[in-house]
Amino acid sequence: MKPERLDKLLASQGGETPLSRRDAKALIARGRVTVDGVRAKSAEQKIDPETASVAIDGVPLTLKTHVYLLLHKPKGYVSSTDAGDGPTVLELVPPTLFRRGLFPAGRLDKDTTGLMLLTDDGQFAHRILAPKRHVKKRYFVTLDVPPTEEMAKRFAKGVELSDGVCKPASLSIVGQNTALVTLTEGRYHQIKRMFAACGAAVVGLHRVAIGNLNLPDDLPEGAVREATDAELAALCESAAQDPTQDK
Ligand code: URA
Repeated sequence: MKPERLDKLLASQGGETPLSRRDAKALIARGRVTVDGVRAKSAEQKIDPETASVAIDGVPLTLKTHVYLLLHKPKGYVSSTDAGDGPTVLELVPPTLFRRGLFPAGRLDKDTTGLMLLTDDGQFAHRILAPKRHVKKRYFVTLDVPPTEEMAKRFAKGVELSDGVCKPASLSIVGQNTALVTLTEGRYHQIKRMFAACGAAVVGLHRVAIGNLNLPDDLPEGAVREATDAELAALCESAAQDPTQDK
């Protein structure tokens, strides 16, 4: 991980009493912050959180080396770090949580809403996304026609698409034109193409869960916050599940 400015690093630690950048600067100016036992002289001092020991008033901090953010993605944002095709989900991240190297772990279409994970930890993202981990993603889908048991059977068998047969997926009918769909893979426009193969068009798509982590109730559309330890544990647990048990 690249070294960060000391004030930025302190302000990105989160926790129960998060510091703003201004708080961090004030603490440094008052000489209350030490780095490797030496009083920090400047907020601009570059710190490597993996090796430095930072303390406030002599109390050592366990510096977070990575950031894990949950986003309730609204429509109109692309799941990319490149703004070639419209605003990116990174634009929704408040400056206090923003880190160099942040990227969306997985993709949702521009018009899809719901739960996304943003991180600067490539290894963690790989664990959640690697196809062999079979981490389930659950979507609430609105269709132009009522979903049918016939569609559910085709999903369970594996819908054939132009790039091959999909892994079995579950479809439960929840309303007149709505269904919950659970996938264990993430192909391009997968749900839209699976329904198109069954003669239906997706008119609304919302991701409600990644593995064991549901979209939190306290995360309104467009909001970003740090994942709690329990939420990260839920994600890790989903990635650790034995795929042979994945029904
Ligand atoms: N399937 C889709 O078609 N789009 C998404 O955004 C996610 C799954």
